[in-house]
Amino acid sequence: MSGAERRPVALVTGASYGIGAATAAALARDGFDLALCDLDTAMLEETASTVRQHGGRAETIALDLRDDDSIAATVQTVTETLRTIDVLVNNAGIAFRKEALEVTREDFHRVMDVNLAGTFMMSRALGEHWIATGHPGAIVSVASTHGLHGVPTSSTYGIAKAGIAHMTRMLAIEWAPHRIRVNAIAPGSTVTPTRTGLSDPAKRDALMARFPLGRFGQPEDMADAIAYLAGAKAGFITGHVLVVDGGLTAK
Ligand SMILES: NC(=O)c1ccc[n+]([C@@H]2O[C@H](COP(=O)([O-])OP(=O)(O)OC[C@H]3O[C@@H](n4cnc5c(N)ncnc54)[C@H](O)[C@@H]3O)[C@@H](O)[C@H]2O)c1
Repeated sequence: MSGAERRPVALVTGASYGIGAATAAALARDGFDLALCDLDTAMLEETASTVRQHGGRAETIALDLRDDDSIAATVQTVTETLRTIDVLVNNAGIAFRKEALEVTREDFHRVMDVNLAGTFMMSRALGEHWIATGHPGAIVSVASTHGLHGVPTSSTYGIAKAGIAHMTRMLAIEWAPHRIRVNAIAPGSTVTPTRTGLSDPAKRDALMARFPLGRFGQPEDMADAIAYLAGAKAGFITGHVLVVDGGLTAK
């Protein structure tokens, strides 16, 4: 990229840890400046410093996806500080495991509010911005293999993630005339700080045995897939959910 060229800007939600932090690094490596957003801002500066090491500019922003005012303020802050947004990565989400018979209406709403409504409202805010300004855009959301096949104790989370997969197709069709591409990835188990279950050796080995490639995903595996879908090399891809699971759901 020549010095005179504008660096594209990506907004990543859930950028403090795991897949979000790795995605920010991958996009910075690919020449993006980054708006790093999270409810938990404790580690955002660490992600920002990685982005800067890759030569990118980084702004850190506190964002609560349950709050439309927070979403609107985030988009406004980014367009003021980094001037535009080219890519939205809807990565933030909450994990949730409970047997279906134990799930309360409150649990259900909490998971849907962050994982499904939050992803939709964030996408909607960017769609509105891009359509109003005539700017093309790309969205990559993070779904899950739990939204593609049945997994015990994961119904609520899986329903939300299946919703993200179908949201991807719906928004892709509605916004294609505006040059907005909408895609998603569906990760299998990925080693991130919040996946504490993987620290139990017996559970970890049993789960790993189900992965044909013989290992769990790393945040960088997901980040590379997201960066591909966000970038110009995926310019003719929209409405697609890319499964990144070491073959787990191919069996
Ligand atoms: N790790 C896995 O095995 C795995 C597998 C499949 C899908 N995923 C999905 O990948 C994404 C990232 O996963 P991870 O393991 O890196 O998770 P993580 O828990 O490390 O990161 C999720 C981030 O979302 C943020 N967040 C939560 N609620 C928020 C809110 N209301 N507003 C803004 N931010 C909020 C959290 O603060 C956190 O930084 C999630 O959507 C997750 O569901 C993860």
